[in-house]
Amino acid sequence: MKLLVTGGAGFIGSNFVRYMVNKYPEYNIVNLDLLTYAGNLENLKDIENAANYKFVRGDIADREFINGLFQEEKFDYVLNFAAESHVDRSITDPGIFVQTNIQGTLALLDAAKTFGVTKYLQVSTDEVYGTLGETGYFTEDTPLAANSPYSASKAGADLLVRAYHETFGLPVNITRCSNNYGPYHFPEKLIPLMIINALHDKELPIYGDGLNIRDWLHVEDHCQAIDLVLHKGRNGEVYNVGGNNERTNIEIVKTILKHLNKPESLMKFVKDRPGHDRRYAIDATKLRTELGWSPKYNFDTGIEQTINWYLNNREWWENIISGEYQDYVKSQYGGRLGVE
Ligand code: NAD
Ligand code: DAU
Repeated sequence: MKLLVTGGAGFIGSNFVRYMVNKYPEYNIVNLDLLTYAGNLENLKDIENAANYKFVRGDIADREFINGLFQEEKFDYVLNFAAESHVDRSITDPGIFVQTNIQGTLALLDAAKTFGVTKYLQVSTDEVYGTLGETGYFTEDTPLAANSPYSASKAGADLLVRAYHETFGLPVNITRCSNNYGPYHFPEKLIPLMIINALHDKELPIYGDGLNIRDWLHVEDHCQAIDLVLHKGRNGEVYNVGGNNERTNIEIVKTILKHLNKPESLMKFVKDRPGHDRRYAIDATKLRTELGWSPKYNFDTGIEQTINWYLNNREWWENIISGEYQDYVKSQYGGRLGVE
């Protein structure tokens, strides 16, 4: 069995590659990643020499390269994690989001259709549903109502995946997960940014009133959900993934400060994110009842372990924030590094 995992050097992709390499020694796993500012091969140091793992650098939107790779490797499964993933960056530079998230997905779908695959799995997000008020949950039937250029590009990709199933009979699944946390989370995102700023006694920028709600899930629980959908998901179906851990951003930041024994006076309320979605909350009943998924992590212990991981892996994030890792990528690979 041969798997293509795109974006496997990013936060969730690298956790997923490690999970699959260890769980399925009989599978061959090819990690295709462009190594943009968010891709980091250090995330996979412990498994880089595993017999069932190979890294290839490339762009999912480069059709010639993608077709060549599919022809050569004859993949059984394709899992598309590769994306521009940060909402704030999509507000300042939407073009690269359309290029990678929509054109890149289209190039992969065309290759999957031409060369044939057992399953194409699109890793999507709850942000395609837009925002919730104080009550209610996103189900798989909630209409798409993306509010940011990032989520609009992910929604566009989801519709293409659906269309390739309906029109061409491509065997597909889409997973839509809530906010992940855990090891190797890139330091631009809320949780790692707040941990690192607090460790430096720097201000913690909280957008707006800080009462926006996200539904947090440990990255390993997301990996397990994707594994289940890949092997057991019904063709053409969407599966929501979420752990019912709704927290306001202020609650998250206070938890981090308390654990690090830092003062709440570090919190600084700043200008809100334009189009800032107020609340996300996932109904994962379909995944739980149909595929038997249940998350392992309890948020309180998961967040504590995650904070400790950042304390114990300073070199990993210090190399990123100092730019040393990108200097290494440039010297080894050259070429386009994505949005910087
Ligand atoms: P990330 O930004 O940490 O990683 C993205 C990876 O994709 C990087 O390794 C980057 O180098 C690679 N990449 C970017 N453009 C590429 C291209 N053109 N070709 C090949 N590789 C490219 O993102 P993440 O947080 O790990 O998210 C992974 C996926 O999961 C994304 O599709 C995202 O939309 C989705 N998702 C993320 C979350 C979350 O909370 N982080 C939740 C739900 C869904
Ligand atoms: O819901 C899934 C999505 O979660 C994924 O699809 C995205 O790829 C991922 O980046 C994440 O999006 P968010 O916008 O929710 O994550 P972020 O970490 O950027 O922000 C989380 C919340 O914290 C959000 O309400 C904005 C707020 N925030 C964020 C940053 C970076 C702040 O208040 N201050 C900050 O400095």
